[in-house]
Amino acid sequence: MGMFAVFGNPIQHSKSPLIHQMFAKQTGIELEYQKILAPVEDFEMHLTDFFEKGGEGANITLPFKERAFKFVSELTDRAQICGAVNTIRKLDNHRLLGDNTDGVGLLLDLQRLGFVSPSCKILIIGAGGATRGALLPLLEYGCDITLTNRTFEKAESLAHQFSSLGKIQSKPMEQVISAEFDLIINGTSSGVTGDIPKISHNLFSAQVACYDMFYQRGLTPFLLFAKQNQVTKLADGLGMLVGQAAFAFKLWHGITPDIDPVLKALQKELES
Ligand code: ATR
Repeated sequence: MGMFAVFGNPIQHSKSPLIHQMFAKQTGIELEYQKILAPVEDFEMHLTDFFEKGGEGANITLPFKERAFKFVSELTDRAQICGAVNTIRKLDNHRLLGDNTDGVGLLLDLQRLGFVSPSCKILIIGAGGATRGALLPLLEYGCDITLTNRTFEKAESLAHQFSSLGKIQSKPMEQVISAEFDLIINGTSSGVTGDIPKISHNLFSAQVACYDMFYQRGLTPFLLFAKQNQVTKLADGLGMLVGQAAFAFKLWHGITPDIDPVLKALQKELES
């Protein structure tokens, strides 16, 4: 039976084992999938140990994605471009392949929701790791992206780094005022502290869709704010979580599982 695991710190609340076991059942593949709490000092040692003991693949979550990027011997193009690895596949005893499935997972979820089209105008708020991971697939799909961030310089620098890959520009938050966007994505971690980014309520309307990469039980603060401003197309990052896992599953097992039943099961669990 193939051995897989997710590494992070903290890791207690990770839903990855549950998601991968549901995919396994759906596709008739037998696997073992554990949660591994890696101490911050020696994440790399724990990862090496896992693969030496027969591990076939791993997911990497906070705070280790950049360290996993440096650790692997080979990288997919999309991992190379975003500078972070969330999925590793053992190729042989000497080679580990690092991939990043966060962005394609997000795009898959946005497509499932009908929130995105190739000509879509998207505002992304935030310029940290979550946004960086999401940019490439959206740009490749054809979307026109405006980046904004509390610390504008970071949005400016990120937009500059991705400028050769598609339509992307940056704007200071106070200058993002017109209702020109089809989709607004919150890629900040503001929801963790119950906050929302300070963006104008003029951006919201019944036509725009809002997506929060963060998720929690009930509406996130950002989605609640959007709802209070007439937005009806609302979704949180639970679908992105299942989407990134589906692409990791594909990398390991060669089969793309159906995310819908798994997402429904997780939503039910979160609501109960
Ligand atoms: P992650 O890897 O989760 O993206 P990160 O790299 O620390 O985390 O980035 C967090 C992002 O959330 C940043 O864009 C941050 O804005 P700053 O660059 O100005 O720090 C944003 N963020 C966090 N808390 C926020 C808040 N309360 N309001 C607005 N933006 C916030």
